[in-house]
Amino acid sequence: MNILVTGGCGFIGSHFIRLLLARRPSARVLNVDLLTYAGRGGNLADLARHKRLRFARADIASNAMRAIISRFRPEAIVNFAAESHVDRSVLDASPFLRTNTLGTQNLLDAARAGGVKRFVQISTDEVYGSIPGKGRAREDGALLPSSPYSASKAAADLCCLAFHRTHGMNVVITRCTNNYGPHQFPEKLVPLMITNAMHDIPLPVYGDGQQKRDWIHVEDHCRGILLALERGRAGEIYNFGIGSEPPNLLIIREILRLLGKPATLIRHVKDRPGHDRRYAVDCSKSQRELGWKPQMSFKAGLADTVSWYRKNIAWWLRLKDSSFRAYYKKNYA
Ligand code: NAD
Ligand code: DAU
Repeated sequence: MNILVTGGCGFIGSHFIRLLLARRPSARVLNVDLLTYAGRGGNLADLARHKRLRFARADIASNAMRAIISRFRPEAIVNFAAESHVDRSVLDASPFLRTNTLGTQNLLDAARAGGVKRFVQISTDEVYGSIPGKGRAREDGALLPSSPYSASKAAADLCCLAFHRTHGMNVVITRCTNNYGPHQFPEKLVPLMITNAMHDIPLPVYGDGQQKRDWIHVEDHCRGILLALERGRAGEIYNFGIGSEPPNLLIIREILRLLGKPATLIRHVKDRPGHDRRYAVDCSKSQRELGWKPQMSFKAGLADTVSWYRKNIAWWLRLKDSSFRAYYKKNYA
């Protein structure tokens, strides 16, 4: 089976390709990635000579996608490619709309023209917006995106559903909570706090640090995506999360504890504009229909992740380069 994976050089896409090749010996994978700042990390270096993995550098929003699909003839496309960092979308929304929304629409058109049998769109729980009280967003919940990032992802989701209804395309959407684990770009909360703390750089906490996310290990998310690819019903959406809700400050304190660093590194900084207070999803549909169950607790997963960043300093050090420092200065000024 030929499977085209976009954004496979990024954090989650690279874990998914590793899982797919290991679990499905008949799968041949073409990884299409533009290699933006987020795809530079050599995340698939260990699979460079893998016989069933190929790579094409291309933009999902470009005409190249039609030629790539007609040559590779994939049975399925799994679309991870995206601009993924909320803070960057606050600084400049245009790459987000271009890749996440127009790129998805372009890929849907190309998939349709190429007769692709299944299209899996990797979306996010951020499309539901902030969830008040003890509620949990279900797949049929309202879309209330707060940031340009989540608006661009919600628009893409609507496009996917429209292609299903209008053209009968076999589309499945996954919406997952915050991922963490090895190979995450050090702009996101968990790796930023680990890598800053390791170098005794202050840890910037937005506002009061009491915002809540449901942190899931990236490998649990990828197992869910594989199930959605193989068992998901066309036109359906599947949430993934583990039901944990540690406030940001608690996570940061735990990272400092694991690293043996002092709490004096914590700095409360100006809050993120439009910052969602709480994300929480209801995953009963994924458990019931896909048979998905997360395996990693947040406590164990966080300890493993801290240990990975401690052992792989060379990997993240080259990502915290001059362009990262320029972004950092602008964002946290
Ligand atoms: P990432 O930023 O680590 O990786 C994104 C990848 O997409 C990079 O390799 C980049 O080079 C590539 N890319 C960007 N623009 C492209 C384009 N125009 N054409 C081709 N490739 C392009 O992101 P991630 O954290 O791995 O997220 C992957 C997907 O999962 C995204 O769609 C994101 O919205 C979704 N998601 C992420 C999380 C999370 O917590 N990180 C949670 C839920 C959903
Ligand atoms: O919920 C899924 C989403 O999770 C994905 O769709 C996004 O691609 C992914 O980036 C992530 O979005 P968040 O904005 O929740 O993740 P981030 O790691 O940027 O922030 C997590 C929380 O930590 C959030 O409440 C903001 C806070 N934070 C983040 C950074 C980078 C800080 O307090 N300080 C920081 O410096």
